[in-house]
Amino acid sequence: MNPSKLRGRDLITTQEWSKEELAYTLDVARSFKKKYRRGSLPQVLKNKTFFMLFYNTSTRTRASFEAAATVLGGHAQFIDFATTRGPEGEAVKDIARMYERYGHGLGVRILESAVNYEYGKGNEILREYAAYTNIPVINMADDMYHPCQGLADVLTIQEKFPRFRGKRYVIMWAYSDRIRSWGSVQEEMLIASRSGIDVTLCYPRGFELDEKIVLQTRKNAEESGSTFEISHEPADAVDGAHIIFPRSWASHECVLTGLNKFGKEREVTIHNKYSNWIMNQNLLDKMNKNAAVMHVLPVFRGQEATDEVMDGAKSLIVEQAENRLHVQTAVLALTMAGKIL
Ligand code: CP
Repeated sequence: MNPSKLRGRDLITTQEWSKEELAYTLDVARSFKKKYRRGSLPQVLKNKTFFMLFYNTSTRTRASFEAAATVLGGHAQFIDFATTRGPEGEAVKDIARMYERYGHGLGVRILESAVNYEYGKGNEILREYAAYTNIPVINMADDMYHPCQGLADVLTIQEKFPRFRGKRYVIMWAYSDRIRSWGSVQEEMLIASRSGIDVTLCYPRGFELDEKIVLQTRKNAEESGSTFEISHEPADAVDGAHIIFPRSWASHECVLTGLNKFGKEREVTIHNKYSNWIMNQNLLDKMNKNAAVMHVLPVFRGQEATDEVMDGAKSLIVEQAENRLHVQTAVLALTMAGKIL
């Protein structure tokens, strides 16, 4: 594929890129990972700026995008939305048009408290930025999707299992007394099913995700010849599985009502009924003997998963977090420069 094909493209969810574009981006990420180790990455972002507009906090996304711009010879500017004129009511279209005049790419993170826990609002605002600017807009996590996380996770799975088709990936709801949105899990379902990985979604009844995304996952699986299953029994779901991602997410009713209206206390009370939904050694022992433990991080240790599992020999969490850097060098080079050499 010609890299210039992706120049100027927004990345809001991987579902909106073709399979060929995603496979090509992952190939570039693999090649860039080797070049990163040798210190020989192409300086394709020289004199280019990537603006990173954060409405919410981040440990990995900010650091990995900033590092990605640096190693490609460019600059990533961190902008805390709270310190801009945005909270005074400045229009998104004015902010978007202005960044286009200053730089060459715009990343936006917007979810949860930033949109009053109104499901879909973060994605809607992100798309408004994309509508009003001609520079590529990269979703750095919203309330529906997290494309760079999805790409990094598929890269990690493909590294661990070069013959990844037919490997079974369990995305399991796990206990936490904190309220997490659906973006990472939904992106994961979409890209994994589309890549030919078998996906099992396991959760207690009441924690159903966005119906449209579940339907799309089913369609992706049919088209790629993989499988998509829903389970409510962790022990059955993990039996013989190759990959596990134990992750807490908010209940269906809470997300559709909006956490502020639904009530944090009421939601935590629902979560507390399932405090035994923890990824532990017993569950890991039921998986394939070559199984991998993954997590987008941050992981709530002692709630979502035990230290024994997260720090054990089967855990890929550090490699997975590192791969954020490599897929993002690929995404920035392709969308902001359209060049990989
Ligand atoms: N996984 C992820 O996006 O991490 P941060 O929230 O720390 O950026």
